[in-house]
Amino acid sequence: MPPKVFVTRVIPEVGLKKIQEHCEMDLWTDPLPPPRDELLRRVEDCQGLLSLLTDTVDAELMDRAPKLVVVSNFAVGFNNIDVAAATQRGIAVGNTPGVLTDATADMAVTLLLAAARRLVEGHHYTLSGKWKTWEPLGHIGQDLVGRTLGIVGMGRIGFATARRLHRGWDMQVLYYDIHRNEHAERELGARQVDFDTLLAESDFVSIHTNLDDSTRGLFDAEAFRKMKPTAVLVNTARGPIVVQEDLRQALEQGEIFAAGLDVTDPEPIDPNDPLLKLPNVIVAPHIASATVRSRNRMAEIAAENLLAGLEGRPLPAWVNPEVEPQWRKRFS
Ligand code: GLV
Repeated sequence: MPPKVFVTRVIPEVGLKKIQEHCEMDLWTDPLPPPRDELLRRVEDCQGLLSLLTDTVDAELMDRAPKLVVVSNFAVGFNNIDVAAATQRGIAVGNTPGVLTDATADMAVTLLLAAARRLVEGHHYTLSGKWKTWEPLGHIGQDLVGRTLGIVGMGRIGFATARRLHRGWDMQVLYYDIHRNEHAERELGARQVDFDTLLAESDFVSIHTNLDDSTRGLFDAEAFRKMKPTAVLVNTARGPIVVQEDLRQALEQGEIFAAGLDVTDPEPIDPNDPLLKLPNVIVAPHIASATVRSRNRMAEIAAENLLAGLEGRPLPAWVNPEVEPQWRKRFS
C-alpha cells in the first residue's frame, strides 16, 4: 500500500507529480490554509505531511498522527514546526534551503532601494495627480554608493544580499551573527560586530536570521533608538523579529528613515494597521521566494524530502538529522 500523505496547499506541479507517483495524496486545494481542525483531522492517519509556513505543526498535531514519520516544509524557514517535539517523537523534518537564496536576496535589495529612494511614495504621488513639476527639493531619498550595510544573520541569504550591495554599490559590510563567517570576511571584507555597533554604524540594516527565542523581538524601541535617523531597515526573514508597533513609532517619529518589509506580524497584516498609513514603509505580502525557478525547485526539494522520509532514506535537506536513530526504529 502506498503511504498516505497530506499536502496542505497546491504547490508547483513538478512536486505534486513526484508525490502522486509514490503516495496516496490528499491535497488541500483551497487558496487559504486548512483550518486547524481540518489539518488535525486530515493528518490523523498519514505517514507524511507536506506543510507550508502558514501551518502550525506542533506536539498536538504530532500526537494526533501516530503514523507520521516525516514533515516536509515548503520553505527554508521552519519556525512553524516544533522541531524538538518532532525529534522526540522520531519524526524527520525537512526544509528547502539554497534554492530561494537569490530570489530572497533580490527582494531584500529591491526593498532597500525602493525604501531608500521613496519609490512607492512617489508612485502614489503620481497616481494622485500631485505631480505638477520637477521639484528640486522634493522626494529626496538616501544615497547608496559607499554607505554601510549591516547584515543581521550572515547565512546564505545574508551573504547573497551583502555580495550584491558590496559589489554593485561599494557598500562596506558589517554583520551580527553568533557564528563567524570567514567566507564573507574574505570575499566582501565584512566585519563581525556586536548588535549595538551594527545599529549605530549602519546606513542600511537587512535582517536574514531565523526566528527563534533569541531573535524574537530583537528590533524593539531600544534598538530603533540606537539606529541612525537616516537608516533604512529591511526585513525579508520573519515578522516577529521586529516589534511592529515599535517600528511604527520609530518611522513616525523619524528615528529611522524608512522600512521595507516582506514579512509582518501577524501575516497577513490588518489592512487598517496604522503602519500601512505611513509614507515611509513598503510592505510586500511575503513574496521573496516567488519566482518561477525558486518555487519549482522548492516543490522538487519538498517532494524529495517527503519521499526520502517515507522510505527511510536520509532527507536531502534535513532540519533534524539528530532524529535518525529514533526515526529508523519507526521502520522496523
Ligand atoms: C519563506 O519565507 C521561507 O522560509 O521559505
